[in-house]
Amino acid sequence: MADGRSAAALEAESVEVREDAVSAAQREGTAIVITSGKGGVGKTTSTANLGAALAARGRSVCLVDADVGLRNLDVVLGLENRVVHHFLDVIEKACSLEEALVQDKRVPSLVLLPAAQTREKDDVATAEMAALIEDLRKRYDYVLIDCPAGIEMGFKNAVVGAQRAIVVTTPEVSAVRDADRVVGLLPKGVEAHLIVNRLRPQLVRRGKMLSVAQIDEILRLPLLGVIPDEAEVVVATNRGEPVSLNAASRTGEAYRRAVSRLEGEQVEIDDYSGDGGFFERLAAWIGGRR
Ligand SMILES: Nc1ncnc2c1ncn2[C@@H]1O[C@H](COP(=O)(O)OP(=O)(O)OP(=O)(O)O)[C@@H](O)[C@H]1O
Ligand SMILES: [Mg+2]
Repeated sequence: MADGRSAAALEAESVEVREDAVSAAQREGTAIVITSGKGGVGKTTSTANLGAALAARGRSVCLVDADVGLRNLDVVLGLENRVVHHFLDVIEKACSLEEALVQDKRVPSLVLLPAAQTREKDDVATAEMAALIEDLRKRYDYVLIDCPAGIEMGFKNAVVGAQRAIVVTTPEVSAVRDADRVVGLLPKGVEAHLIVNRLRPQLVRRGKMLSVAQIDEILRLPLLGVIPDEAEVVVATNRGEPVSLNAASRTGEAYRRAVSRLEGEQVEIDDYSGDGGFFERLAAWIGGRR
């Protein structure tokens, strides 16, 4: 527990839990796994940003870091100093769920259930993981599960309790091919959506990067959002501040629109193809006023 740090010292920082979210009457929340075929395409970034944007809209959200051994969702959220316990402690009854949850500082309806850094993915039993997610669904509107890279035990445990999946891919042939493979490995009945991350419009226009339309031809998944490749994402990650909480951020806006679509709203997607998407029109409008 506490990944080698003094539990007493960390306990003193206190794990605040939003009482009304945890003890609320039984909800029927939605568990969504954020997954990919290829590693490093933006699963953790997307989990943090979608979760923060959902919570900012007033939903109660629990983010589960299922990347046992490589915990980093806490860092992306800027909550690493407040992690005391992890979800294996909860499963093994070393602590209560309430003790393990870390409440976000900015959006009170957002909590994190951290992963263990010093344990193996095989330490988690699939049935126990399913029961944990089931329990969380009764307490939160959304349970977002950050899946580890790969398709072994960690993947199985991350997808087991999910009703929906968000498959993240970058516009690279290898990532799209791996995404296609992972869709085939999702349990039956899991509804999958797609996020295309790190798109670079200029490269797409020059024919040097796959376009959203080309990716769609291969994957044929309902598109939730297209997130541009922006240095601000890396900067925000290093600061532990999800871009989706920054009203002025372009990538933040892309994540907020994805969340609107996730909640069933008819929001136009900018595919950055240069044929009149939102930012194109905005740029043309600003240009026209000069
Ligand atoms: N839209 C983006 N623009 C720029 N950088 C990005 C974007 N999305 C993610 N990144 C950067 O890409 C790197 C990998 O992102 P992330 O850790 O979210 O991927 P992952 O799929 O969770 O990786 P893993 O498979 O190892 O768990 C990070 O440094 C992150 O800041
Ligand atoms: Mg990750």
